[in-house]
Amino acid sequence: MILLIGSQKGGPGKTTVAVNLAVEYARQGKDVCLVDADQQRSAARWHADREEQGHQPPIVCLEKLGNIHGTLVELAGRYEVVIVDVAGKDSREMRTAMTAADKMIVVVRPSQFDLDTLSHMADVIEQAMDINPGLEVRGLIAQAPSNPSVTERTDAREYLADYPQITALETVLYERKAYRDVVGEGLGVVEWSNPKAKAEIQELAAEVQA
Ligand SMILES: Nc1ncnc2c1ncn2[C@@H]1O[C@H](COP(=O)(O)OP(=O)(O)O)[C@@H](O)[C@H]1O
Ligand SMILES: [Mg+2]
Repeated sequence: MILLIGSQKGGPGKTTVAVNLAVEYARQGKDVCLVDADQQRSAARWHADREEQGHQPPIVCLEKLGNIHGTLVELAGRYEVVIVDVAGKDSREMRTAMTAADKMIVVVRPSQFDLDTLSHMADVIEQAMDINPGLEVRGLIAQAPSNPSVTERTDAREYLADYPQITALETVLYERKAYRDVVGEGLGVVEWSNPKAKAEIQELAAEVQA
């Protein structure tokens, strides 16, 4: 399975989702390859920390820029799960990955600035599906405020419903310090002490795979 994590905005949590899913799938015993296709190299840096600390299970990480279609197809023949992290813009890496991917997760914060990017993303998805009709695109609301009186999460879900190309995931990732704390350790939240963050990532991993 090639799983692409994309969006046209920096900061919603793409790399956070990519590395945390990589850890969860690896812990399930799957052969995981993480592909960092963002020149900012956040996933690669996280991976270097993980290697340095010697955390188990080890995860393979590759860096590749430009046209990554061929690389992803080749990796999919060797690994059970290939997770691709791209930059937060309409990039060559994102577009070429979309022509190879089985699934794509579009990560958005429940803010108008993020939601405004969905219309362009929906167009890009349609173009990719002309070439890769099997591409399955799911929308993930991330960094949702955990305060129950804030309705941004449900508003964002309604907004996503306007785009038939993007099916909203049931799982929502809330804003939790644990997601920031694990980064420098080269860990995932499923290896950390916050049970709520752990449960969210496990729910996401199951929902994406289903
Ligand atoms: N659910 C979350 N709760 C709290 N902080 C988060 C969450 N998701 C991401 N972050 C933090 O937000 C920042 C941007 O996340 P990142 O994954 O790098 O975004 P992107 O890859 O989309 O640019 C990082 O500092 C990250 O630790
Ligand atoms: Mg990133």
